[in-house]
Amino acid sequence: MVGVSMRMEMAFRDTFRVAYKIVLPNFILMLPLGYLMVVTYRVGGWPLELLFVAPLAALRWVFALLVAVGKVYRNGIKALLAGIDARDRYTYGHSVRVSRYALLLARQLKLPEDLTESIVHSALLHDLGKLGMPDEVLYKPVRLNSEELKTVRRHPVQGSAILLQAQVFPCVKDGILHHHERWDGQGYPSGLRSEEIPLSARVIAVADAYDAMTTDRPYRKALTHEQAVEEIRRMAGIQFDPKVSEAFLAVADRVRQLAAHLARRGDPFPGDVVEDLGDPLDGLHPHPQSSN
Ligand SMILES: [Fe+2]
Repeated sequence: MVGVSMRMEMAFRDTFRVAYKIVLPNFILMLPLGYLMVVTYRVGGWPLELLFVAPLAALRWVFALLVAVGKVYRNGIKALLAGIDARDRYTYGHSVRVSRYALLLARQLKLPEDLTESIVHSALLHDLGKLGMPDEVLYKPVRLNSEELKTVRRHPVQGSAILLQAQVFPCVKDGILHHHERWDGQGYPSGLRSEEIPLSARVIAVADAYDAMTTDRPYRKALTHEQAVEEIRRMAGIQFDPKVSEAFLAVADRVRQLAAHLARRGDPFPGDVVEDLGDPLDGLHPHPQSSN
């Protein structure tokens, strides 16, 4: 595993995660093969062991291939994130903050590791569709009119359409397409209600709303942390999934610490936010071009 980690230039921790998820079950299945090797060695000595060389080499090749596919997938997310960063620095910072809040929520909800990872990656790309918005709408310094709002409301569909081109991202599409749905069915683009909305999108919706409320925009001042928390409490069961809101209220103090931590250090480096699923308050390096 150390060899594969070095060859793929991946942290050993990430290689281990892939191995744990994919290879450990295979490893357990190989135990009978190991037993068979011992038996054949006792019967025929080492010449008989040569029979196992080809199958073991094939297994190693499959393992390296799986690690490589995981790396291509994460690099694809980093590339898209770099595109968001180049187009609009605010949306980049917003996306990484939402992903860190979503990670805290996913941990609090004790979601499985696979789902947590796809929630973090969906959160990073949730506003990807804004890449296609005209400059006069994306950078408008005053409140948008109703026609411009219609343009903005197309971004979940546009974002998921971009991902549709790359078939390796099916698991993150739901969170992008549905992050503006509401628990009461009054959201967009599909008007889904309650548990019809994918869980990833319900988690991102709360994280997204918190960051949107607590960030200064040219046309309005940010709410305080306490006001934003109160709003999430008030809209539980109306705009937000009550269970996700409850999880948010339970970690509200950590969210405040995380917001302060990110504000102090500046936007994290794109590679870190894609790779790092550890404690959201740890391990991020400042973005090389961060001006915060
Ligand atoms: Fe959005």
